[in-house]
Amino acid sequence: MPNQNDSLARYRPLVDDWAAFHRAAASPLPTCVVTNPLRASPAVLDAWLRREGYEPVPVSWMPGAFLLPPEAQPGKTLAHQLGLCWIQEAVATVPVALLAPEPGERVLDLCAAPGNKTAQIATRMANRGTVIAVDRFANRLGVARRQTERLGLVNTCFLAADGCGLPADLEPFDRVLVDVPCSCEGTSRKQPSVLARTASRRKGWRTHVQIALLRKAAQLCRVGGQIAYATCTYAPEENELVLEGLLRSAPAGTFTLRPAPLPGLRTAPGITHWQDRALTAELAHAHRIYPHLNDTGGFFVALIEKRGPLPRQEIDERRAEAPPDLGRALPTSVCEAYESLLTRAYGFSAADLRPYRWVEGRRETAALASADLQVPAAPPSLAQGLSTLHIASALPRLVTVAALLLGRAARHNVIELDDKQVEPFFLRAPLPIRADQILDATGSVPLIARASGIVLGLAELDEVGGQRSVRSVLPKRWYRDPR
Ligand SMILES: C[S@@+](CC[C@H](N)C(=O)[O-])C[C@H]1O[C@@H](n2cnc3c(N)ncnc32)[C@H](O)[C@@H]1O
Repeated sequence: MPNQNDSLARYRPLVDDWAAFHRAAASPLPTCVVTNPLRASPAVLDAWLRREGYEPVPVSWMPGAFLLPPEAQPGKTLAHQLGLCWIQEAVATVPVALLAPEPGERVLDLCAAPGNKTAQIATRMANRGTVIAVDRFANRLGVARRQTERLGLVNTCFLAADGCGLPADLEPFDRVLVDVPCSCEGTSRKQPSVLARTASRRKGWRTHVQIALLRKAAQLCRVGGQIAYATCTYAPEENELVLEGLLRSAPAGTFTLRPAPLPGLRTAPGITHWQDRALTAELAHAHRIYPHLNDTGGFFVALIEKRGPLPRQEIDERRAEAPPDLGRALPTSVCEAYESLLTRAYGFSAADLRPYRWVEGRRETAALASADLQVPAAPPSLAQGLSTLHIASALPRLVTVAALLLGRAARHNVIELDDKQVEPFFLRAPLPIRADQILDATGSVPLIARASGIVLGLAELDEVGGQRSVRSVLPKRWYRDPR
C-alpha cells in the first residue's frame, strides 16, 4: 500500500480524525449490491442471496442496499443473473438519492458508464419517462447496455458522445447527474494503487473537463430543475472549486446549492476556504464523505438548483414545447401484429402491455421501450428499449430478457417451478415436473419458467413415457456447472 500520509497529507486539515481516516482508507471495502425494485423487494433479494450462501447486511442509510464481504462475487449469483440486483459501491448510491428523479421525468446522465447510477435513476423512475445516458466511450456503454437488459429497463437510451459537446437543442432536462471522471482518490480501498498514481497525476487534474461537463449540465437543465455533481475524490480543485466556478460564471441567483439532508449518513460539509482562498459560503451544503465516517469509499456530492435561465437560452425553452421525438417507432400494423402474437402466446392483457411501445431493436429484434421514452434525433442513440422479439424467422420468438420483463404477468404457457427445482433449471439437463406445474401449454411457443413470482427464463416441454420434463432454453453463459 503506498504511503497515504504522503499522497493524501494535503487533506489532513480537512479531516476530523486523521488516524481513523488513514486506517479506513487502507482497509478492504465491503462489496455492495442494490435491489432492483422493478423485480424484487429487499426481502426477496436477501432470500436469494442467502440461498447462495451469503449473509447480506442491510445498509442502514440506503434502503434496498446490502453489504457482502469484500471478497464476495455477487456477479456470479442467480440473483444477479435474473436482474434482482446490481453491484454498486454503497457510497456511490448517494448522488441519485439526492437527485431523487421521479417517474415520467426527463433525466440526463452525462457520464454514465458503466451504468450503475443509470440503473438507479431508471428504476427510481419506475421504468417510465426518459433517461438519456451519455458516455464518451462506446465500449464502456456496452457494459451499461447489457446491465440495462438484465435489469429490464425500457426508459433508457444510450448516446456515445463527448458530454461537453452535446447540442444545446436537446430538450431541457428535469434533472441532470454529472458523475465526472476524476482522480479517484476515494477508491483507494478498492484499488490501493490509485494513491500512487494521484500524487504524480495532480499536475494533470482533469478540471477543465469537469468544468465543461458541469457547464453543459447547467445549460441543459431546465429552470427549476436540479443537477447532482459527484466525484470520488477529495481534491477541492475537482470539487468545490469546480462548483465555485459555475456559481460565479452565471448571473447571481441563477444557480444555488441546496441543503440536501442524507438521513443516517455521516458527512462533512463542503469546504469554504482552501489554501488561503475564501469560497462561497453555500458550498458548505455539499457533502464530503470520508471512508471512516460510514465505512465506505471516499466521495463528494452536491445538489444544485437552476433558478434562472442562462443568457441566450430562449432556444431551449422553445424546444420544450416541440412535440417529443418518439425514436425509431415501428409501423402501427407491425406493432399490432407483435402485440397480438404476445397476447395469444402468453395471455397478456392490454393493460400488461400498455406501459410500452414497440421500437426498432438491435440485431434483428423488435424492442419494447417505455411508452413515454423520448429519444433525441441527434446525436444518434446506440440503443433504446429492450430487445423483445427475435424477428428474423417467420415465427417471432420471445427474447430471454423480455421474458424476465413481462413473464410475471403471463397466464398461458407458464411453468411454475418449486424452490428446489430452481438450481437444476440452470443445468443443461431435462428437469422432471408434475402436470399441475404447467399453466395452459399450447406447445407452439417456449414456456416462461417462474419460481415464487421470479421469472427464470424460457423452457421447452418434453414428454417421454408419460413423464413430463422441461429443458431450459437460455443464453449460453446463463448455464451453471453441476456442483
Ligand atoms: C466516474 S465514471 C462514471 C460512473 C457511472 N456514473 C456509474 O455510476 O456507473 C466517469 C465516466 O465519465 C466518462 N467520460 C469521460 N470524459 C467524458 C466526456 N467528455 N463526456 C462524457 N463522458 C465522459 C468516462 O468514460 C467514465 O465512464
